[in-house]
Amino acid sequence: MKRIFVGLSLIAATCAFVQPAMAADDLLARAKESFKAIPTTVPEIADNKVTSDKVELGKMLFMDPRLSASHLISCNTCHNVGMGGDDNLETSIGHGWAKGPRNAPTAFNAVFNIAQFWDGRAADLKAQAKGPVQAGVEMNNKPERVVETLKSMPDYVAMFAKAFPNDKDPVSFDNMARAIEAFEATLITPNSKFDQFLMGDKSALNKVEAEGLDLFMEKGCVACHAGTNFGGEGYYPFGVVEKPGSEILPEGDKGRFAVTETADDSYVFRAAPLRNIELTAPYFHSGKVWDLKQAVSIMGTSQLGEKLSEKEVESITAFLRTLTGDQPKIEYPILPKSSATTPKPLE
Ligand code: HEM
Ligand code: HEM
Repeated sequence: MKRIFVGLSLIAATCAFVQPAMAADDLLARAKESFKAIPTTVPEIADNKVTSDKVELGKMLFMDPRLSASHLISCNTCHNVGMGGDDNLETSIGHGWAKGPRNAPTAFNAVFNIAQFWDGRAADLKAQAKGPVQAGVEMNNKPERVVETLKSMPDYVAMFAKAFPNDKDPVSFDNMARAIEAFEATLITPNSKFDQFLMGDKSALNKVEAEGLDLFMEKGCVACHAGTNFGGEGYYPFGVVEKPGSEILPEGDKGRFAVTETADDSYVFRAAPLRNIELTAPYFHSGKVWDLKQAVSIMGTSQLGEKLSEKEVESITAFLRTLTGDQPKIEYPILPKSSATTPKPLE
């Protein structure tokens, strides 16, 4: 009898040991079907070879407020590389303290998105970079004036020539955008706890985080937030099941409708990438939600038609926090000095 009891205890102990290990194996196998780790090397970009000369130049351009009419606003003003790649404001503030209509998404890992902006209206990062420089509520400048400004600084002229050695006229608005795109390709955040898990370290997620990952997949978040960037790959109505109120989904912004002019695209937005999400509050294109748990809960009702329990929201949020990776360490560049011919700042 005693022997049987010992035997049973042994089996029970073995099961208790094996079960969580098996569960972790299964969770990992399922996660691998939907997600990809952020690579540790800079990804390639179509039609724009990433070279160290371009990246160095692109970093300066990204940080240089003289790309703006006022000489006050740089890309980094709204995509602060020390703050998760965005400005942590409800909607961005640009030229003349103008408040823009949308929240600034992070520039980190943007290279993995299929298209840029909340509505995907820019095909890639080089197309995107030309937008803010000219936008009235952002940098309010003109391409000719930007080129004139850059050409007025011998150090920039030399750097453009080095970065674009085969071009007859290397200092151009197009090449500015290419250099910025190359720099942005380096703004990636590998090695998050989740990526460590995905690469086989089953102890990288604690119990609650693992439950959150399981729920994220089981409940269906994964249908829209998958791939390398946990989003940024497809367009969906904000409010597939239940439209959020106009305080969160302002009526005036119809999202992708403005790009395609197709009625079906009213209030359709790109599924937001969720990498480093704990660093980029406030949430949604309106920037109206500051609490990540509330954003998760809203997604439950609006996209899944399900009121998630408090415990489920807690676990999913804990899991989302594991998507914070190593932040790029950017040394602030010493920028080329202005010359007598550099256009003066405008009001
Ligand atoms: C969107 C980069 C300047 C505010 C974006 C995106 C990128 C980017 C990559 C798309 C990210 C995504 O869709 O996930 C840049 C660069 C800039 C620059 C390279 C300099 C040339 C600015 C400035 C502001 C700003 C100065 C604020 C005044 C925004 C906003 C969006 C955005 C609000 C979302 C707009 C929309 O979806 O309609 N930016 N940005 N950006 N950026 Fe910038
Ligand atoms: C935005 C999480 C399900 C499509 C977001 C945001 C979070 C989130 C945190 C805000 C990101 C930011 O502002 O940067 C989740 C979770 C889900 C879920 C935890 C499951 C409970 C879904 C599903 C879809 C979807 C199933 C598609 C049918 C979107 C879209 C946005 C978004 C389109 C952008 C909304 C906007 O315009 O502001 N999601 N999501 N999500 N998600 Fe989800």
